[in-house]
Amino acid sequence: MAKTRTVTVTDNATGKSFEAPVIEGTHGRPVIDIKGISQELGYFVHDPGYAFTSSCRSAVTYIDGEQGVLLYRGYPIEQLAERSNYLEVCYLLMFGELPTPEQWEEFNILVRRHTMVHEGIRRFMNGYRADAHPMGMLVGIIGALSTFYHDSLDINDPANRELSAVRLIAKMPTIAADAYKYTIGQPYMYPVNSLGYVENFLQMMFAVRAEPYVPNPVAVRALELMLILHADHEQNASTSTVRLAGSSGTNPFAAVAAGIATLWGPAHGGANEAVINMLEAISDPNDIPKYVERAKDKNDPFRLMGFGHRVYKNFDPRATIIRQACHDLLADLDSKNEPLFEIARQLEEIALKDDYFIERKLYPNVDFYSGIILSALGIPLNMFTAIFAMARTVGWISQWLEMMVDEDQRIGRPQQVYIGAARRDYLAMVDRG
Ligand code: CMC
Repeated sequence: MAKTRTVTVTDNATGKSFEAPVIEGTHGRPVIDIKGISQELGYFVHDPGYAFTSSCRSAVTYIDGEQGVLLYRGYPIEQLAERSNYLEVCYLLMFGELPTPEQWEEFNILVRRHTMVHEGIRRFMNGYRADAHPMGMLVGIIGALSTFYHDSLDINDPANRELSAVRLIAKMPTIAADAYKYTIGQPYMYPVNSLGYVENFLQMMFAVRAEPYVPNPVAVRALELMLILHADHEQNASTSTVRLAGSSGTNPFAAVAAGIATLWGPAHGGANEAVINMLEAISDPNDIPKYVERAKDKNDPFRLMGFGHRVYKNFDPRATIIRQACHDLLADLDSKNEPLFEIARQLEEIALKDDYFIERKLYPNVDFYSGIILSALGIPLNMFTAIFAMARTVGWISQWLEMMVDEDQRIGRPQQVYIGAARRDYLAMVDRG
C-alpha cells in the first residue's frame, strides 16, 4: 500500500513535531490536513478570509486560478457555454452527471411544475416600499419560503431535500420577476410553463397582461449564457455562507437567503451593478486614464469594478466567453449600449497595459461585461445582482445537497486570535472614571 504523504510541522520553541497528512484531490494543489495540530502542538491556524484554507471536500466545481480553468462536474465551462443550456447545467450540478433523455424530460417537467409561488408570497411582497432594492426583497422572500413550504423542510429526508432544491430553482425566476414588477407598479405575470426556463423569466419580466409578448431569441441565448456562467463557482463567499448557515441544520431556504445576503455586496455579486455605474461615471473615453490613476491611488478608495479576482490570477475564463457574447448581442440588437461597451473595451485595453494591474494580476472578471449584456437586454440596474442570485441558486443548493451527505460535515465554527482586553474585574459605576 502506498504510504500516505505527510508534511511535518515543527515547533521550534519546544522541538515537538506534528506530522500532518496530505489530502490530494482529482485536480489542484494538495491540502494539508491540520486537524490534529491543535491537540499535538497546541496551536490554531490563522488565515483571515480563508484564502488558503480548504473547508470541505467537494465534487461539484473546480477552478484553476492560474490557468483560467473552470469545470462543472469535470466539464469545461467553454463546452457547456457553447453546447448546453441552463437547466441541463442545473441537472449536472445537482446530480453530478449530464441527464439521459428520460432524466432530462423528467427534470424539465418537474422544474416547470414548481414555477408558481404561493399567493401569500405576493401579499408578503406587497408590503415592501416601492423603491425597495430587489436584493433586499429576495433576502426576505427566499427566507420566507420556509414558512410556506412546510412539506419539504425535513433536511434528513433526501426526497424533501431534492424537492426544496427544485422549488428554489423553479421559483427563483418568478420571485425575481415579481420583485421587478412590484417596483415598477405593473401587475405580476404568472409563469407560462410551456416556455423554456429563460423565456419564461423574460416573459414574467417584460410581458404585460394587455399585450402578447414574444422573447427575442438572441436575448434568450445571451441570458442563458449568463446563467450558465454564473451557475456555480466553488467555495466563494456566498456559497461558503450557504454551507456555514446550513451546517447548523437550518432549512435550505434560510441557508440560501444567507447566501443572497452575501452575494449582494459590491466585492461579490454586486460588482455587475457597480461596473455599469463606473462606466456611466466615466462616460467619456478621454477620461479613462484619470479613472485608472484613481484606482491605483492608495489614498483613493476607488477601485476598477469588474477587475481582479480572489482566485483567477491570469484570466477569468467566463470573462472571455461573455466578452464575445456581449459583442455579438450588441451587434444584433443595434444597441444604445454600444458607447458603454466601447468605454469598457478601451478601459480593459489601457488597464491591461498598466504595470500596476500587470504586477497584481488584475484582469477583467465575468462581471466586467455581464452588466453590459443585462442592460442591453433592458434589465434595470437594480435587478443585475438578483439575476446573478437566480443563476447561482443551483450552485448554492447543489453544494448544500453535497454537504448534507458529507460524513465530515459538522457545524462551521472558526477560531480567532483574541486581541481584546486581558481578564479584568467589574467595577461598580461609582468607582469608574
Ligand atoms: N482596482 C484597483 N486595485 C485593485 C483592484 C481593483 N479592482 N482589485 C485589487 N486591487 C489591488 C489591491 O488594492 C491590492 O493592492 P496592494 O497589493 O497594493 O495593496 C491588490 O490589488 C490585491 O487586492 P486584494 O483586495 O488583496 O485582492 P482580493 O483577492 O482580496 O480581492 C476582489 C479580490 C475581487 C474583491 C478585488 O479584486 C476587487 O475588489 N475587485 C473589484 C470588485 C469586483 O469586480 N468584484 C467581482 C468579483 S468576480 C464576481 C464574483 O465571483 O463574485
